[in-house]
Amino acid sequence: MHDQPTPPPSQGPLHGPVPELFTWEFAADPYPAYAWLREHAPVHRTRLPSGVEAWLVTRYADAKQTLADPRLSKNPAHHDEPAHAKGKTGIPGERQAELMTHLLNIDPPDHTRLRRLVSKAFTPRRVAEFAPRVQELTDGLIDRFAAGGSADLIHEFAFPLPIYAICDLLGVPREDQDDFRDWAGMMIRHQGGPRGGVARSVKKMRGYLAELIHRKREELPAEPAPGEDLISGLIRASDHGEHLTENEAAAMAFILLFAGFETTVNLIGNGTYALLTHPRQRDRLQGALAAGERGLLETGVEELLRYDGPVELATWRFATEPVTIGGQRVAAGDPVLVVLAAADRDPERFADPDVLDLGRRDNQHLGYGHGIHYCLGAPLARLEGQTALATLLTRLPDLRLAVEPAELRWRGGLIMRGLRTLPVEFTPART
Ligand code: HEM
Repeated sequence: MHDQPTPPPSQGPLHGPVPELFTWEFAADPYPAYAWLREHAPVHRTRLPSGVEAWLVTRYADAKQTLADPRLSKNPAHHDEPAHAKGKTGIPGERQAELMTHLLNIDPPDHTRLRRLVSKAFTPRRVAEFAPRVQELTDGLIDRFAAGGSADLIHEFAFPLPIYAICDLLGVPREDQDDFRDWAGMMIRHQGGPRGGVARSVKKMRGYLAELIHRKREELPAEPAPGEDLISGLIRASDHGEHLTENEAAAMAFILLFAGFETTVNLIGNGTYALLTHPRQRDRLQGALAAGERGLLETGVEELLRYDGPVELATWRFATEPVTIGGQRVAAGDPVLVVLAAADRDPERFADPDVLDLGRRDNQHLGYGHGIHYCLGAPLARLEGQTALATLLTRLPDLRLAVEPAELRWRGGLIMRGLRTLPVEFTPART
């Protein structure tokens, strides 16, 4: 029941054997391989680089259904292979259990309870109040490199912006935010490589969060101040009998950081790259911004998420009983990975799916997932993405790539899709 047999050559251009997945070439441009899978093996069992076997779901309709299917659990205890317990597979292991008991690894009713507690912090209104701070952070980062005429947009811009934004939201004091930036940097740099660096950073973050929660609990005022930070809000909830343990509060802070950080880095990175390599679309957006029209910015960021979004594969799901996905039987205990990047280019759902059209209207992409685990931070991600791209294009209007696209390197991680560096040039601007 493992790899599906190689199908006979098809009539169209997508013939040939099963394409090789998870190579460097694949990381640079996975879309032709995904087109092949969608066409010939839409629910495809494969061996991942970690050695784990999992089903890849690539068609939009199957993807949407799978993401919302309660028979697919997020709890790694349902995985039939004990390998994940060794922590070597990328599936959350028992060793990190404390921080890993978070929204993306649990099912209802715990998921419902924890998500309700934190969702107040992410309403569009709460997030809109945060807009001036995101603009201030964005301008501050651009000020640091604008006069130089060149920059690596990943390290100098896309990377620090979300980490500072989430730290502010959580209530991590400004003087500690650079430590967070360093740990998060370790977590990104060591992905796909030795896991020791990641484990060390996670440990430091865990220690820091436990101490911060303890300190905030001691200093918590009797009444919430307007705009109270998220960690204080979580402590208040747990103190008022909402059944949130201190460990759950730490895991929540961790998942917000983890889920909201690299994703947003890659929205800004992949989005800027797509704009710089599609000059007509970029001119169109610059024209709209110059005319004070925000509509194209809003549809444009959604289109960038569809076209080359940060989350290539949704996180792990495990069949709790035999299920049939797209006509393929999946056994209980099997891991299932929904390939959002493939679903969002499905010609059955999107007209001209390989074309970047910033004004695309019918664009119900899956870049933020679907169902009960739909991205909690989507309003914040939209705010950050829109602010970052609009400010970059307005303040550095002749922004251009400093290297050929073929020279760029993509990170090789399983879930996320993003660039290692994005060297750019522009006419030096006054700050
Ligand atoms: C462009 C940026 C972002 C993208 C593309 C993105 C994408 C996603 C996706 C696809 C999921 C669902 C994963 C699955 O079902 O397997 C998800 C869940 C989640 N995201 Fe985001 N995300 C982004 C930014 C953020 C931000 C800024 C935050 C918070 C600060 C955040 C917090 C979360 C949380 C907490 C979950 C888990 C929700 C749950 O399980 O109920 N995300 N995100």
